[in-house]
Amino acid sequence: MAVLVTGGAGYIGSHTVLALLARGDEVVVLDNLSNASAESLRRVARLSGKAPRLIEGDIRDRQRLRDLLATGAIQSVIHFAGLKAVGESTREPLAYYQNNVSGTLVLLEEMRRAGVSQLIFSSSATVYGAQASVPYVETAAIGGTTSPYGTSKLMVEQILRDAARADSRFTAIALRYFNPVGAHPSGEIGEDPHGIPNNLLPYIAQVAVGRLPALGVFGNDYDTPDGTGVRDYIHVMDLAEGHLKALDALPRQAGYRAYNLGAGRGYSVLEMVRAFEQACGQSLPVTIKARRDGDLAAFWADASLADRELDWRVSRGLAEMMADTWRWQQNNPHGYR
Ligand code: NAD
Ligand code: UD1
Repeated sequence: MAVLVTGGAGYIGSHTVLALLARGDEVVVLDNLSNASAESLRRVARLSGKAPRLIEGDIRDRQRLRDLLATGAIQSVIHFAGLKAVGESTREPLAYYQNNVSGTLVLLEEMRRAGVSQLIFSSSATVYGAQASVPYVETAAIGGTTSPYGTSKLMVEQILRDAARADSRFTAIALRYFNPVGAHPSGEIGEDPHGIPNNLLPYIAQVAVGRLPALGVFGNDYDTPDGTGVRDYIHVMDLAEGHLKALDALPRQAGYRAYNLGAGRGYSVLEMVRAFEQACGQSLPVTIKARRDGDLAAFWADASLADRELDWRVSRGLAEMMADTWRWQQNNPHGYR
């Protein structure tokens, strides 16, 4: 029996597929390649010595899913597929609800039809919204999201909760990621954003490799130790391992559960820059800019629930996140292209 990984050619998906193959699981990837390249999975195959099956297709293509699930070969689904750019989601909300919410509905309906009842979903710390206090804990209220992207994650969490309540055979885990960074230590796979990066670490890495002139720091007047934003950065391999732990926990669980996946501590933007300078051995040009709309001052995870119930915790620190990001960026200055 295989694990179906939707969005498995993307950043977090490709690292998770590698971790699944490395421990001997069979994997089928469904990805429309809208934000990924098949090259990521060719490299995963080289690293693992096993080729995941890639089906180039869309989660909204009901017939495609029906045919795939009807083979009876799929036992569980890890669902990464979706759009993830916060700024773009405010300009193109319908595309975000269409891919992230409608796409998930098609997937859930076809899973139910085929009797596939185990799902892991990629959620985000953004579901806690602007009103939550830190550290974020799963018992806190969710909602008050500030972008269609965040709202799409919130809606899917609600759908999963309701679906599990209505059907006792269906079990689902939502993993609320904090800020994924880093790359596989081989430097062969990593994050490959199209265009100018929105997120901090890919931006810093592209400055270091000479693709961008300087990092703009979005505000240095927050109520934080050095005035810059504080986030909970988590190594993508720790995140990938969290999916394996969640997959193993699914058969022991009933209904719907949500877990934070974070390191449980925060670093500021300037701490991240300094740590990257250590890794790449050069100083990086930085300019202070205005705050970015929608940004919060500081948040990090209480990740103790995943520790207790999934037996999961991070094992990689800041220096490793930076060294692995830099190796990937240096070896692949233009990503997979
Ligand atoms: P990514 O864009 O690298 O991966 C998403 C993959 O899904 C891509 O390969 C893309 O081609 C594919 N895809 C998109 N729409 C699809 C569709 N309709 N049908 C089939 N495939 C489709 O992003 P990522 O960083 O690997 O994120 C994976 C998941 O984790 C996403 O759901 C994202 O919202 C969520 N997440 C990411 C972060 C982060 O910082 N990277 C944080 C929180 C949550
Ligand atoms: C962003 C999204 C969030 C999403 C997460 C992971 C927004 C408002 N939020 O979170 O919903 O789940 O990415 O994909 O977009 N920074 C700079 N300069 C830069 C880039 C970032 O100073 O060029 C700062 C930001 O202000 C923030 C920190 O770096 O303080 C991290 O930013 P980023 O990597 O974009 O992640 P989040 O804002 O936490």
